[in-house]
Amino acid sequence: MSGQTPEFQIKKDLDRLLPLLNTRLTARFDQGEAVRVGEAIRYSLEAGGKRVRPILCLLAAEAVGAPAEAALSGALALEYLHTYSLIHDDLPAMDDDDLRRGKPTCHVAFGEAHAILAGDGLQAEAFAILAADVSIPADARVEAIAVLAQASGWRGMVGGQALDLEGEALRTYGLEHLKTIHRLKTGALLGASLEIGAVLGGANSPFREALKSAGSLLGLAFQIQDDILDATSNAATLGKRAGKDKEKGKITYPALLGLEGARLALAEATENALCHLQSLPRPESLEAWARYLAARKA
Ligand code: IPE
Ligand code: IPE
Ligand code: MG
Ligand code: MG
Ligand code: MG
Repeated sequence: MSGQTPEFQIKKDLDRLLPLLNTRLTARFDQGEAVRVGEAIRYSLEAGGKRVRPILCLLAAEAVGAPAEAALSGALALEYLHTYSLIHDDLPAMDDDDLRRGKPTCHVAFGEAHAILAGDGLQAEAFAILAADVSIPADARVEAIAVLAQASGWRGMVGGQALDLEGEALRTYGLEHLKTIHRLKTGALLGASLEIGAVLGGANSPFREALKSAGSLLGLAFQIQDDILDATSNAATLGKRAGKDKEKGKITYPALLGLEGARLALAEATENALCHLQSLPRPESLEAWARYLAARKA
Protein backbone atom coordinates (compact mmCIF):
# COMPACT_ATOMS: atom_id res chain seq x y z
CA MET A 1 0.00 0.00 0.00
CA SER A 2 1.13 3.56 -0.71
CA GLY A 3 2.37 5.61 2.26
CA GLN A 4 0.55 8.67 0.90
CA THR A 5 -3.12 9.54 1.45
CA PRO A 6 -5.35 8.60 -1.50
CA GLU A 7 -6.17 12.31 -2.08
CA PHE A 8 -2.48 13.20 -2.46
CA GLN A 9 -1.93 10.37 -4.91
CA ILE A 10 -5.07 11.32 -6.91
CA LYS A 11 -3.94 14.94 -7.23
CA LYS A 12 -0.47 13.87 -8.34
CA ASP A 13 -1.92 11.53 -10.97
CA LEU A 14 -4.39 14.14 -12.25
CA ASP A 15 -1.69 16.83 -12.46
CA ARG A 16 0.48 14.70 -14.70
CA LEU A 17 -2.13 12.75 -16.72
CA LEU A 18 -4.89 15.29 -17.43
CA PRO A 19 -2.63 17.51 -19.59
CA LEU A 20 -1.73 14.42 -21.64
CA LEU A 21 -5.43 13.70 -22.29
CA ASN A 22 -6.47 17.31 -22.81
CA THR A 23 -3.96 18.03 -25.57
CA ARG A 24 -5.64 15.42 -27.80
CA LEU A 25 -9.21 15.25 -26.46
CA THR A 26 -11.07 17.27 -29.09
CA ALA A 27 -8.55 17.42 -31.97
CA ARG A 28 -10.47 14.82 -34.00
CA PHE A 29 -13.59 16.98 -33.89
CA ASP A 30 -12.14 20.37 -34.81
CA GLN A 31 -12.57 20.11 -38.56
CA GLY A 32 -15.29 18.53 -40.66
CA GLU A 33 -18.26 19.36 -42.83
CA ALA A 34 -21.01 18.61 -40.30
CA VAL A 35 -20.07 21.61 -38.18
CA ARG A 36 -22.99 21.50 -35.76
CA VAL A 37 -22.52 17.83 -34.83
CA GLY A 38 -18.83 18.59 -34.28
CA GLU A 39 -19.86 21.44 -32.01
CA ALA A 40 -22.25 19.19 -30.07
CA ILE A 41 -19.48 16.62 -29.60
CA ARG A 42 -16.96 19.20 -28.40
CA TYR A 43 -19.61 20.73 -26.11
CA SER A 44 -20.18 17.41 -24.35
CA LEU A 45 -16.49 16.48 -24.15
CA GLU A 46 -15.40 19.90 -22.92
CA ALA A 47 -18.22 20.24 -20.38
CA GLY A 48 -15.87 18.45 -17.99
CA GLY A 49 -16.41 15.16 -16.27
CA LYS A 50 -14.06 13.37 -13.95
CA ARG A 51 -12.22 11.45 -16.72
CA VAL A 52 -12.20 8.36 -14.52
CA ARG A 53 -12.10 5.81 -17.35
CA PRO A 54 -9.20 7.33 -19.34
CA ILE A 55 -7.18 7.94 -16.18
CA LEU A 56 -7.69 4.36 -15.01
CA CYS A 57 -6.66 3.14 -18.47
CA LEU A 58 -3.38 5.10 -18.30
CA LEU A 59 -2.75 3.95 -14.73
CA ALA A 60 -3.34 0.32 -15.71
CA ALA A 61 -0.58 0.58 -18.32
CA GLU A 62 1.72 2.07 -15.69
CA ALA A 63 0.74 -0.62 -13.17
CA VAL A 64 2.27 -3.23 -15.49
CA GLY A 65 5.42 -1.20 -16.07
CA ALA A 66 4.63 0.66 -19.33
CA PRO A 67 4.60 4.44 -19.82
CA ALA A 68 1.14 6.09 -19.73
CA GLU A 69 1.67 7.31 -23.31
CA ALA A 70 1.47 3.70 -24.55
CA ALA A 71 -2.26 3.69 -23.64
CA LEU A 72 -3.19 7.22 -24.70
CA SER A 73 -5.32 6.28 -27.74
CA GLY A 74 -7.15 3.71 -25.63
CA ALA A 75 -7.77 6.29 -22.92
CA LEU A 76 -9.24 8.76 -25.42
CA ALA A 77 -11.35 6.02 -27.00
CA LEU A 78 -12.81 5.23 -23.58
CA GLU A 79 -13.73 8.86 -22.91
CA TYR A 80 -15.39 9.12 -26.35
CA LEU A 81 -17.36 5.95 -25.76
CA HIS A 82 -18.34 7.03 -22.25
CA THR A 83 -19.39 10.53 -23.35
CA TYR A 84 -21.54 9.00 -26.10
CA SER A 85 -23.18 6.76 -23.48
CA LEU A 86 -23.98 9.81 -21.32
CA ILE A 87 -25.44 11.82 -24.23
CA HIS A 88 -27.75 8.93 -25.11
CA ASP A 89 -28.50 8.12 -21.44
CA ASP A 90 -29.86 11.67 -21.03
CA LEU A 91 -32.19 11.55 -24.08
CA PRO A 92 -35.96 11.89 -23.55
CA ALA A 93 -36.41 8.24 -24.57
CA MET A 94 -33.99 7.13 -21.86
CA ASP A 95 -33.49 8.99 -18.53
CA ASP A 96 -34.80 12.31 -19.87
CA ASP A 97 -32.32 14.59 -18.08
CA ASP A 98 -31.64 18.28 -18.66
CA LEU A 99 -28.36 18.75 -16.76
CA ARG A 100 -25.02 16.99 -17.34
CA ARG A 101 -21.50 17.91 -16.27
CA GLY A 102 -22.93 21.17 -14.91
CA LYS A 103 -24.44 22.23 -18.23
CA PRO A 104 -27.67 21.70 -20.19
CA THR A 105 -27.62 18.20 -21.68
CA CYS A 106 -26.57 17.79 -25.30
CA HIS A 107 -30.14 17.35 -26.60
CA VAL A 108 -31.31 20.43 -24.68
CA ALA A 109 -28.49 22.51 -26.16
CA PHE A 110 -28.45 21.07 -29.71
CA GLY A 111 -31.75 19.26 -30.22
CA GLU A 112 -32.51 15.58 -30.02
CA ALA A 113 -31.44 14.58 -33.53
CA HIS A 114 -28.04 16.23 -33.19
CA ALA A 115 -27.53 14.67 -29.75
CA ILE A 116 -28.24 11.21 -31.16
CA LEU A 117 -25.80 11.90 -33.99
CA ALA A 118 -23.17 13.35 -31.64
CA GLY A 119 -23.34 10.10 -29.65
CA ASP A 120 -23.12 7.99 -32.79
CA GLY A 121 -20.20 10.08 -34.04
CA LEU A 122 -18.31 9.74 -30.76
CA GLN A 123 -18.82 5.99 -30.74
CA ALA A 124 -17.37 5.60 -34.23
CA GLU A 125 -14.40 7.85 -33.41
CA ALA A 126 -13.62 5.72 -30.34
CA PHE A 127 -12.87 2.79 -32.63
CA ALA A 128 -11.26 4.99 -35.29
CA ILE A 129 -8.69 6.53 -32.93
CA LEU A 130 -7.50 3.09 -31.86
CA ALA A 131 -7.46 1.70 -35.39
CA ALA A 132 -5.42 4.68 -36.65
CA ASP A 133 -2.68 4.55 -34.00
CA VAL A 134 0.14 2.86 -35.90
CA SER A 135 2.48 3.24 -32.92
CA ILE A 136 0.57 0.30 -31.35
CA PRO A 137 1.55 -3.16 -32.66
CA ALA A 138 -1.25 -4.40 -34.94
CA ASP A 139 -2.21 -7.39 -32.77
CA ALA A 140 -2.54 -5.24 -29.63
CA ARG A 141 -4.58 -2.69 -31.60
CA VAL A 142 -7.05 -5.34 -32.78
CA GLU A 143 -7.21 -6.76 -29.26
CA ALA A 144 -7.99 -3.35 -27.73
CA ILE A 145 -10.70 -2.70 -30.32
CA ALA A 146 -12.23 -6.12 -29.61
CA VAL A 147 -12.27 -5.46 -25.85
CA LEU A 148 -13.96 -2.08 -26.39
CA ALA A 149 -16.55 -3.57 -28.75
CA GLN A 150 -17.45 -6.37 -26.34
CA ALA A 151 -17.71 -4.04 -23.33
CA SER A 152 -19.75 -1.34 -25.05
CA GLY A 153 -22.11 -3.49 -27.13
CA TRP A 154 -25.24 -5.42 -26.30
CA ARG A 155 -23.31 -7.93 -24.17
CA GLY A 156 -22.01 -4.95 -22.16
CA MET A 157 -23.04 -1.33 -21.70
CA VAL A 158 -25.87 -1.30 -24.26
CA GLY A 159 -27.34 -4.46 -22.73
CA GLY A 160 -27.12 -2.94 -19.25
CA GLN A 161 -28.85 0.23 -20.39
CA ALA A 162 -31.68 -1.86 -21.87
CA LEU A 163 -32.13 -3.82 -18.62
CA ASP A 164 -31.96 -0.57 -16.62
CA LEU A 165 -34.81 0.93 -18.66
CA GLU A 166 -36.89 -2.27 -18.70
CA GLY A 167 -36.40 -2.37 -14.90
CA GLU A 168 -38.45 0.80 -14.44
CA ALA A 169 -41.55 -1.34 -15.04
CA LEU A 170 -40.55 -4.14 -12.62
CA ARG A 171 -42.30 -4.18 -9.27
CA THR A 172 -40.06 -6.81 -7.69
CA TYR A 173 -36.49 -7.82 -8.40
CA GLY A 174 -33.59 -9.47 -6.61
CA LEU A 175 -29.98 -8.61 -5.85
CA GLU A 176 -28.68 -10.82 -8.66
CA HIS A 177 -30.69 -8.92 -11.27
CA LEU A 178 -29.54 -5.57 -9.84
CA LYS A 179 -25.91 -6.73 -9.92
CA THR A 180 -26.29 -7.85 -13.53
CA ILE A 181 -27.56 -4.41 -14.57
CA HIS A 182 -24.73 -2.59 -12.79
CA ARG A 183 -22.09 -5.03 -14.02
CA LEU A 184 -23.23 -4.49 -17.60
CA LYS A 185 -24.13 -0.81 -17.76
CA THR A 186 -21.09 0.45 -15.83
CA GLY A 187 -18.83 -2.47 -14.85
CA ALA A 188 -18.18 -3.54 -18.43
CA LEU A 189 -16.68 -0.22 -19.55
CA LEU A 190 -14.70 0.24 -16.32
CA GLY A 191 -13.37 -3.30 -16.74
CA ALA A 192 -12.46 -2.46 -20.34
CA SER A 193 -10.67 0.70 -19.15
CA LEU A 194 -8.23 -1.33 -17.09
CA GLU A 195 -8.04 -4.20 -19.57
CA ILE A 196 -7.25 -1.91 -22.52
CA GLY A 197 -4.55 -0.26 -20.39
CA ALA A 198 -3.18 -3.75 -19.79
CA VAL A 199 -3.30 -4.72 -23.48
CA LEU A 200 -1.63 -1.49 -24.64
CA GLY A 201 0.88 -1.72 -21.78
CA GLY A 202 1.90 -5.20 -22.98
CA ALA A 203 0.70 -7.02 -19.84
CA ASN A 204 1.00 -10.80 -19.57
CA SER A 205 -2.19 -12.79 -19.26
CA PRO A 206 -2.45 -13.06 -15.42
CA PHE A 207 -1.90 -9.29 -15.01
CA ARG A 208 -4.44 -8.57 -17.75
CA GLU A 209 -7.01 -10.81 -16.04
CA ALA A 210 -6.32 -9.17 -12.65
CA LEU A 211 -6.86 -5.71 -14.14
CA LYS A 212 -10.03 -6.73 -15.95
CA SER A 213 -11.53 -8.26 -12.79
CA ALA A 214 -10.50 -5.30 -10.65
CA GLY A 215 -12.01 -2.91 -13.21
CA SER A 216 -15.30 -4.73 -13.37
CA LEU A 217 -15.60 -4.64 -9.56
CA LEU A 218 -14.57 -0.98 -9.49
CA GLY A 219 -17.35 -0.37 -12.01
CA LEU A 220 -19.89 -2.09 -9.77
CA ALA A 221 -18.64 0.00 -6.83
CA PHE A 222 -18.75 3.14 -8.99
CA GLN A 223 -22.38 2.57 -9.94
CA ILE A 224 -23.38 1.78 -6.33
CA GLN A 225 -21.83 5.11 -5.27
CA ASP A 226 -23.61 6.81 -8.21
CA ASP A 227 -26.90 5.37 -6.88
CA ILE A 228 -26.08 6.53 -3.32
CA LEU A 229 -25.21 10.04 -4.53
CA ASP A 230 -28.43 10.23 -6.56
CA ALA A 231 -30.34 9.49 -3.35
CA THR A 232 -28.33 11.76 -1.02
CA SER A 233 -26.67 14.62 -2.92
CA ASN A 234 -27.81 17.56 -5.03
CA ALA A 235 -27.45 19.02 -8.53
CA ALA A 236 -24.99 21.74 -7.48
CA THR A 237 -22.53 19.13 -6.21
CA LEU A 238 -23.12 16.47 -8.88
CA GLY A 239 -23.51 18.66 -11.99
CA LYS A 240 -26.55 16.47 -12.83
CA ARG A 241 -30.00 16.11 -11.28
CA ALA A 242 -30.33 14.16 -8.02
CA GLY A 243 -33.36 12.17 -6.86
CA LYS A 244 -34.13 10.98 -10.37
CA ASP A 245 -33.74 7.25 -9.71
CA LYS A 246 -36.60 7.14 -7.19
CA GLU A 247 -38.76 9.32 -9.40
CA LYS A 248 -38.24 6.97 -12.35
CA GLY A 249 -38.53 3.78 -10.29
CA LYS A 250 -34.99 2.66 -11.21
CA ILE A 251 -33.47 -0.55 -9.94
CA THR A 252 -30.77 0.69 -7.53
CA TYR A 253 -28.80 -0.45 -4.47
CA PRO A 254 -30.39 2.07 -2.05
CA ALA A 255 -33.87 1.10 -3.34
CA LEU A 256 -33.25 -2.60 -2.69
CA LEU A 257 -30.91 -2.61 0.32
CA GLY A 258 -31.36 0.84 1.90
CA LEU A 259 -28.51 3.33 2.23
CA GLU A 260 -26.63 1.32 4.84
CA GLY A 261 -26.93 -1.87 2.79
CA ALA A 262 -25.74 0.01 -0.28
CA ARG A 263 -22.71 1.37 1.60
CA LEU A 264 -21.78 -2.13 2.76
CA ALA A 265 -22.05 -3.45 -0.80
CA LEU A 266 -19.87 -0.56 -2.00
CA ALA A 267 -17.20 -1.37 0.59
CA GLU A 268 -17.30 -5.07 -0.31
CA ALA A 269 -16.95 -4.44 -4.07
CA THR A 270 -14.05 -2.05 -3.40
CA GLU A 271 -12.26 -4.56 -1.14
CA ASN A 272 -12.69 -7.27 -3.78
CA ALA A 273 -11.24 -4.96 -6.43
CA LEU A 274 -8.26 -4.23 -4.16
CA CYS A 275 -7.60 -7.97 -3.79
CA HIS A 276 -7.22 -8.31 -7.58
CA LEU A 277 -4.85 -5.32 -7.74
CA GLN A 278 -2.47 -6.76 -5.13
CA SER A 279 -0.72 -9.07 -7.59
CA LEU A 280 0.36 -6.27 -9.96
CA PRO A 281 3.95 -5.00 -10.24
CA ARG A 282 3.00 -1.40 -9.38
CA PRO A 283 -0.49 -1.29 -7.86
CA GLU A 284 -0.16 1.83 -5.64
CA SER A 285 -1.92 4.41 -7.82
CA LEU A 286 -4.82 2.13 -8.75
CA GLU A 287 -5.24 1.18 -5.09
CA ALA A 288 -5.48 4.84 -4.14
CA TRP A 289 -8.02 5.44 -6.92
CA ALA A 290 -10.14 2.47 -5.79
CA ARG A 291 -10.36 3.96 -2.28
CA TYR A 292 -10.92 7.48 -3.56
CA LEU A 293 -13.73 6.46 -5.94
CA ALA A 294 -15.60 4.69 -3.12
CA ALA A 295 -15.54 7.89 -1.07
CA ARG A 296 -16.14 10.40 -3.88
CA LYS A 297 -18.74 13.13 -3.43
CA ALA A 298 -19.39 13.84 -7.11
C1 IPE B 1 -21.74 8.74 -14.92
O1 IPE B 1 -20.37 8.53 -15.07
C2 IPE B 1 -22.48 7.55 -15.44
C3 IPE B 1 -22.20 6.32 -14.70
C4 IPE B 1 -21.76 5.27 -15.27
C5 IPE B 1 -22.48 6.26 -13.28
P1 IPE B 1 -19.31 9.54 -14.45
O2 IPE B 1 -19.68 9.83 -13.01
O3 IPE B 1 -17.95 9.00 -14.66
O4 IPE B 1 -19.54 10.85 -15.32
P2 IPE B 1 -18.51 12.00 -15.70
O5 IPE B 1 -17.66 11.47 -16.80
O6 IPE B 1 -17.71 12.35 -14.48
O7 IPE B 1 -19.38 13.13 -16.17
C1 IPE C 1 -25.70 5.47 -16.63
O1 IPE C 1 -26.22 5.21 -15.39
C2 IPE C 1 -24.81 4.41 -17.12
C3 IPE C 1 -24.39 4.73 -18.49
C4 IPE C 1 -24.41 5.90 -19.04
C5 IPE C 1 -23.92 3.64 -19.29
P1 IPE C 1 -27.07 6.41 -14.79
O2 IPE C 1 -28.25 6.72 -15.62
O3 IPE C 1 -27.28 6.15 -13.35
O4 IPE C 1 -26.00 7.62 -14.94
P2 IPE C 1 -26.30 9.11 -14.52
O5 IPE C 1 -26.69 9.07 -13.07
O6 IPE C 1 -27.39 9.61 -15.41
O7 IPE C 1 -24.98 9.78 -14.72
MG1 MG D 1 -29.43 5.68 -16.98
MG1 MG E 1 -28.97 8.67 -16.23
MG1 MG F 1 -27.17 7.60 -11.83
